[in-house]
Parts: sequence; C-alpha cells; structure tokens
Amino acid sequence: MLSYLCLCIFMVPLALGASWIAPGAVWYDTDGKKINAHGGGVVQRESTFYWVGHSAENETPMMYSSTDLINWKNLGAQSTVSAMWRPKLAKPNGSFWLFGQQDRYSLSLKSSQLTGGYAQSAKVYIPPSSYSYSDTGMFHDPVSDTWYLLTSADHNTVQINKINTDGTLGSRASSLTAGAYEAPGLFYANGVYFLICSGKTGWRANPNKVFWATSLAGPWTGGTDIAPSGENTYGSQNTFELTISGSQKTTYIFMGDAWDSKGGVSSNYVWLPMTVDTSAKKVTLDYHAMWAVDVKTGAISSPKADKRYEANHVLSKRTDGGSSEITFRNVTGTGAMQWLAFDYTVNKRDGGEAYIIVNNEPPVNISSLNSRAGYHHVVPVQLRLEAGEDNTIVFGSMGQDDFEIAITGIESF
Ligand SMILES: *[C@@H]1O[C@H](CO)[C@@H](O)[C@H](O)[C@H]1NC(C)=O
Ligand SMILES: *[C@@H]1O[C@H](CO)[C@@H](O)[C@H](O)[C@H]1NC(C)=O
Ligand SMILES: *[C@@H]1O[C@H](CO)[C@@H](O)[C@H](O)[C@H]1NC(C)=O
Repeated sequence: MLSYLCLCIFMVPLALGASWIAPGAVWYDTDGKKINAHGGGVVQRESTFYWVGHSAENETPMMYSSTDLINWKNLGAQSTVSAMWRPKLAKPNGSFWLFGQQDRYSLSLKSSQLTGGYAQSAKVYIPPSSYSYSDTGMFHDPVSDTWYLLTSADHNTVQINKINTDGTLGSRASSLTAGAYEAPGLFYANGVYFLICSGKTGWRANPNKVFWATSLAGPWTGGTDIAPSGENTYGSQNTFELTISGSQKTTYIFMGDAWDSKGGVSSNYVWLPMTVDTSAKKVTLDYHAMWAVDVKTGAISSPKADKRYEANHVLSKRTDGGSSEITFRNVTGTGAMQWLAFDYTVNKRDGGEAYIIVNNEPPVNISSLNSRAGYHHVVPVQLRLEAGEDNTIVFGSMGQDDFEIAITGIESF
C-alpha cells in the first residue's frame, strides 16, 4: 500500500458581513456600485438568478446574476439599444428575448445566448389592435410552460398575450379593463392566478392592487390593496413577481421600484415576500426592514442585531436647549460596508431630513441611502466604518422649526 501525505489547505471564507434585502436601501452589486436595473424582472436558470432591468441613465437593458438574490454581479449592458423601459426576459424557444417599452410601443430584442448580444428585432405588434401602451410585464406560466407578455395599453386595458416560440405575439389571452392600471405582474399559486397592477400616478407611488382568476383567460376579480393603502405599496410600484419553489415552502416575492421624483438614478428597489392566501384570494406584502430568503428551502429570515447603541433623544430645534444632533461614539466597524439600522421616528415626514456624519466625513442625508427613511422606525443603511472600536457617528436633524426626530438607537448587523 502506498501511503499518501495529505497537504490539506483549508480555505477560510472571507468574513463577509451578513447580507440582507433592505427595501428602499441603496443596493450595491458585488463591485460596490449601486444596482442599476429598474423596472426589471428576475428569471431563474438552474441555481442562478438573472435580473434584467433598465439603467437609470439611458434605459439600456442591464443584467445582473446572483445565486442568493442578495449579492448581484453586474453582467453589463445587454444591448446598444437605449430608451427601452422595463425590459423583461423571456425564453419561448431556442432564443432569448427581451421585451420592453420604447416610446409607446413594445420592442423585442433577440439573442442566441442568455447574456449579451441582444439585437434589435422588431417593434412588436400586440394583437388584436396594437394599442399604444406603456409598461411591459412578463409571466412564465408554470402550468402550460408558456411565456406571456403583459402590457398596459392605453385605453386602460391591461392585456396578456402569449409569446410564440418564434418571439412574435399570439392572440390576446386575457385582459383587465377595471380602470387606469399599469405596471402589471402575474404569478400563479395553487390553481389561482394573481395579477398585481399599479394605478397610474406617474412616478409617485400609489396603493397597488391585486386581481385574481382561476384561469389565465379571466375573468379577473378583485382590485384589493396589497398593503395598507396609506403606505402606497411601501413607496414603490410593482414591476415583477418572483416565485421561489423551495424544499420547505414556496415563497412569492413582490419586486417593486421605489422611483425618485423622475424615475432617475436615485431610484431604489422594494422587494418584499408576500403572504398568499389562495382560499381567500388575498395577497399581502409582508414588510421587513431587512430580510432574506433561503433560495433552497424558500424560508424567510430576518436579521438579529449583534450590537445596539442606545439613545433616547428627541432631536429638535424647538426644544429649549435641545440639540439637533446626537453623537454615537465607539461604534464597532469592520472596515467594509456594513449594515447599520437607525431606529427613529419623525413627527412629520415632509418636515425635514435626518443626516449621518461618519468620522468627520461630509454629512449624508439618510434618505439618499434609504428611501424608506422617515416611513418606518427601523431604517437600515450600508456604511463603511473604520475597522475597530473607534468610530463616531453623528445623527442629526434639519428642517422646519417644528420638525422632530425621536431616535432610540442604532443597531449593527
Ligand atoms: C425556434 O426558433 C428558431 C430560430 O428563431 C426558429 O427557426 C424555429 O422555427 C423556432 N421553433 C419553433 C418551434 O417555433
Ligand atoms: C472610544 O473612542 C475614542 C475616540 O473616539 C477612543 O479614543 C477610544 O480608544 C475608544 N475606546 C475604545 C474602548 O476603543
Ligand atoms: C439634504 O437634505 C437637505 C434638506 O432637504 C437638502 O437641503 C440638502 O441639499 C440635502 N443634501 C444633499 C447632499 O443632498
């Protein structure tokens, strides 16, 4: 017998900070750049997810890939086409297709491979009447293994057309004419199709609604809110519904866009798991400030803070002797981007701003790091602190004289 000397090298994984999906927070890709894939959708192929959306600068289709729905690698622009909004990926046959909106019609781009090389194919004729329309949505029906393009036609018709294997559109499979709706997304759960749509309020968020049908052909019933109406879909607009068929449970994910005032570069994303009650035909967004889905099991989790820095201060100009800043000292940092959640409430959302100063760097408005700032008492943001125990974070308020921020602490994760 030969004996072997085993030189075993144990790779110690880099201690990456735990990662989470934080609705409204700036979402960085694996290069540390803000993810630029708005109005998008996600397609899973084997264990990899592909997120396609438009860039905020010129609406060219961008693609990112991930195996955990959290850490996304930028695969770059997929085409030279610009001004194409809300691109969605479909694979009805051997080819890969991107459908999106250009001007007020739909454009399809074709590639022989999943990533890259999408060339202009055609302005899409949408049967039966080729209405002009806005937002493109996409649905792969797991029952029939068929791809459907969702459009929100002018004339207030949301319609669903089959995508033929050659990439042309088939006849209208279904339509919803219940009012002024756009940004449609569809998913299927236990015999029920759920169609989520936004109202037409420009870039301003509104209470998105769900309709249901037991056949894709309709008729569609409902129009109920998917979140408390005052929340305006947690400041977002629907773009796509993603189904994770895990070993323990099937998890349905709402993907929304938190548009800035003009759909520009400071727009963010609001992704949330949904509670789907197929008996009551109810869909409800489950708000989490931070969450993750185990893509293998389908289980949802939320983080536990590893440290809390207490405060109990009302920051206000009005209070006699009150300060409009509070300083947290000796905050532990990793030297890399890390999640910190600021726990505070405001007395009026449009009365002012909270800002953060890390180690004498220039102040940053917290709303530029998380568009949920002021709307929810836990506001997670990613910040880069120095490695060690010596970080100082100033949290301050500015705004109208009667604007107040009550801060109870910061948690690190
Ligand atoms: C699939 O796509 C190829 C290339 O576009 C086309 O030639 C072929 O006819 C398509 N197959 C079907 C079944 O439509
Ligand atoms: C706390 O921070 C101060 C300066 O901000 C620093 O001098 C001190 O060493 C820190 N204390 C610990 C225990 O790290
Ligand atoms: C922060 O917010 C204040 C108040 O809204 C605004 O005047 C200021 O320009 C903002 N700062 C930055 C860097 O955006």
